[in-house]
Amino acid sequence: MAIRIDGKALAVKVKEQVREEAAKLPRKPGLAVILVGDNPASQVYVRGKENDCVECGIVSFPYKLPAETTQAELLALIEELNANEAVDGILCQLPLPKPLDEDIVINAIAPDKDVDCFHPFNVGRMTIGDPVFLPCTPAGVMEMLKEYEIPIRGKRCVVLGRSNIVGKPMSMLLTQADGTVTTCHSRTEDLAAITREADILVSAIGKTRCVTADMVKDGAVVIDVAMNRDENGKLCGDVDFAAVEPKCSHITPVPGGVGPMTRALLMRNILTAAKNHQA
Ligand code: GUN
Repeated sequence: MAIRIDGKALAVKVKEQVREEAAKLPRKPGLAVILVGDNPASQVYVRGKENDCVECGIVSFPYKLPAETTQAELLALIEELNANEAVDGILCQLPLPKPLDEDIVINAIAPDKDVDCFHPFNVGRMTIGDPVFLPCTPAGVMEMLKEYEIPIRGKRCVVLGRSNIVGKPMSMLLTQADGTVTTCHSRTEDLAAITREADILVSAIGKTRCVTADMVKDGAVVIDVAMNRDENGKLCGDVDFAAVEPKCSHITPVPGGVGPMTRALLMRNILTAAKNHQA
């Protein structure tokens, strides 16, 4: 039977390290959290991040803005937060309601406060292997692989999804760890033939039970990044867990896998920003 990778427990450990380090700084790290509109999932995520801040000794500055907020108003707030010395990190929860432009907003956040690692400057730094911040979800996955001593060097890694937030940076980090990486997406032909080659399979598609047992090699490591709802409204990932688990060496559950790690790695990025600002 597969080893279940316990993201929840590892996240506690990472946050504990952040709390200890944060307590040594002359000033508490600060995170501005911007939530525009009333997307229920975003509200849950933001609440979780604010709770993590409390646990880690990080001050959070919440900005709950109405859905009608204009681009100019949002940019003015970001400009103000860029200049605010109590704020080490700025997180604008995505997706933004229409017609707000996410790219313009991401570009407006000062790169030294871009704790999501979404700004092109930080994406570039990560890509050349000289990161300031690491993107939280892919970094969380890397941390899990490290904790469970899963070798990456020379291994076949298959990433399902090519988003800027998860798929692309995930492929990049696995490449930098000497994995042999294939990125698959909605246009990939003969997907199952590729996934069956994977020693490490990371799925970030967002479709319930789209990774079936026939797509997974015996003994593979399966990492499920997705947060979907099944037909009963229950939180689930991309992987048909019951069918896939018996075939794997390691697997992440949903919930309790990647999700808590994403948030923990956000806390680590805020600590990094605070250290850089207080150096
Ligand atoms: N929406 C979904 N995931 C994320 C994330 O990691 N950061 C932000 N800012 N928004 C998101």
